[in-house]
Amino acid sequence: MKYNVDEELSKVRRASYDVLIIGAGGAGLRAAISAAEAGVKVGVVTKSLLGKAHTVMAEGGAAAALGNADSRDNWKVHFRDTMKGGKFHNNWKMVEIFAKEAPDRIRELEMYGAVFDRTEEGKINQRNFGGHKYPRLAHVGDRTGLELIRTLQDKVIHFDNVTIEMETTIVSLIVENGEAKGAFGYNRQTGELVAFSAKSIVMATGGFGKVYRVTSNSWELTGDGESIAYRAGIELTDMEFVQFHPTGMVYPNSVKGILVTEGVRGEGGILLNNKGERFMFRYIPEMFKVDYAETEEEAERWFKGDPNARRPPELLTRDVVAKAIRAEVKAGRGSPHGGAFLDIASRRTPEEIKKVLPSMHHQFLKLAKLDITKEPMEVGPTAHYVMGGIRVDGETQETNIKGVFAAGEAAAGLHGANRLGGNSLTDLLVFGKLAGDHAAKRAKEVEMKQIKEDELKAAISYALKPFDEDNTEDPYLLHNELKELMEDYVGIIRTEEGLKTALEKLKEMAARAEKVKASGESRAYNASWHQALDVKNMVTVSMIVAAGALARKESRGGHTREDFPNTDESLTNVLYVITKGEDGMPSVREEKYPSMPDYLQEVIKEIEEAK
Ligand code: FUM
Repeated sequence: MKYNVDEELSKVRRASYDVLIIGAGGAGLRAAISAAEAGVKVGVVTKSLLGKAHTVMAEGGAAAALGNADSRDNWKVHFRDTMKGGKFHNNWKMVEIFAKEAPDRIRELEMYGAVFDRTEEGKINQRNFGGHKYPRLAHVGDRTGLELIRTLQDKVIHFDNVTIEMETTIVSLIVENGEAKGAFGYNRQTGELVAFSAKSIVMATGGFGKVYRVTSNSWELTGDGESIAYRAGIELTDMEFVQFHPTGMVYPNSVKGILVTEGVRGEGGILLNNKGERFMFRYIPEMFKVDYAETEEEAERWFKGDPNARRPPELLTRDVVAKAIRAEVKAGRGSPHGGAFLDIASRRTPEEIKKVLPSMHHQFLKLAKLDITKEPMEVGPTAHYVMGGIRVDGETQETNIKGVFAAGEAAAGLHGANRLGGNSLTDLLVFGKLAGDHAAKRAKEVEMKQIKEDELKAAISYALKPFDEDNTEDPYLLHNELKELMEDYVGIIRTEEGLKTALEKLKEMAARAEKVKASGESRAYNASWHQALDVKNMVTVSMIVAAGALARKESRGGHTREDFPNTDESLTNVLYVITKGEDGMPSVREEKYPSMPDYLQEVIKEIEEAK
């Protein structure tokens, strides 16, 4: 090893917070606000710069049953839509809390300063989105995530008891006897190693879209949170459920995967194949017919404002639309670059398009030299979100390790097998707040625990291992191989054979990941070192996804098995809980969580039967 662990030990910077929040996206910042308001000392660690979180990629809006654009909306309909969208695999307790608290969290965000688009009467405006029965997404054009981050960031920096640790990557959690003690990481700019003592830790680290070749995710989304949690003995679940957003850019290649907001379809955009057919009418699942128009004529009545018409099938849930586009391409009816056409130009005036979808207009003009007010876009599925993640208690967000909490995309449960668009921004607010509240509560009740020297040495060795002189693997090339493997074998459509092949190859990659090499002399700004640690995390989470996907012998939401094409009702409440096994490989345990209580079953029934 280029570095001597004992020498490094003496140079480690030490900091101590009552509540340490890892991640400064929407969930992390909302947790920071709650914890700060509770009066405890808060540290927010971010790999990136404050304000640059991936939260901005949720463009179209934040879902909450405010009932501003359609007074028929209420928490019960939002509850039903979210459960149905998640194929009833969701943690129903979380969904209940979510649907009930969402409107307050949005109004609170407005009080913090978020400038939402308005209805004519001056209320927060709401737009249509996939899987939501009524227009429900509070939005700021197609830049809602950005506004959410901007607002939360502005609020957070005004607390004297919050410190932001920017450009700092956490590589290990430090836990003892099932309780949190702190976390260990490094500063990306200087290479300085840092140990944080903490009474409570909130994991708000997002997902891991970067394991796929085609993704809407930015560079930060490398599964750090899931991977370090797993290494620390924290349970993960639902990792097999990965969301492929139906509309990413497919052309030019350099921008393939970049998100095309669902807001385009929410504003009336339609999907067409290369024959000019509005193909989504052929793909309406039986369970959704109650809400979705089966003829173009009815869909057009909805578009023109008929409140009794059913919604157009372009607004079906993402899992359904992504698979429909894939099927059209497979049948030879795809667009020239392997997607579908998304047409808003023939549906709205250029002025309307530029007003409600300014970023999409700009994005296509600059990146594809295409004017969406005149021509249809070409779009196709892109890895966007992971429904699974760290297993939490639905009411406190605490994990199986006391004092470690998780919220946002890093946590599992709320979205079940498939997330509805717009539910993620509100998820960050609702569960970020809850995690912050409970983390602060615990911090007031327990003593700070000392991190021991041997615990620190283990963390240092892990962090600096890429500098071992006999390392051979190029992290960049390994990442490229990983992306191809995940896309081919653990992508939208999976088979037992493919998953087994993937797991074999991933085991080999895990061994190679132990030998990834950081090049260069210095730790300051050393991108290859960052990448070496990131790729280890990505290989780890990929193995967990493949293991979960192999265990789930059915198709449901974001998990489709060609060899088990149907949904198996007996698996609705079955969770595959994954922990690190004795052999270091993912160990899968099957667990059943309780069925929905009668009063929530009644809610579903009431909404399904309502006319
Ligand atoms: O399509 C979108 O604007 C994405 C929103 C989301 O993922 O919630």
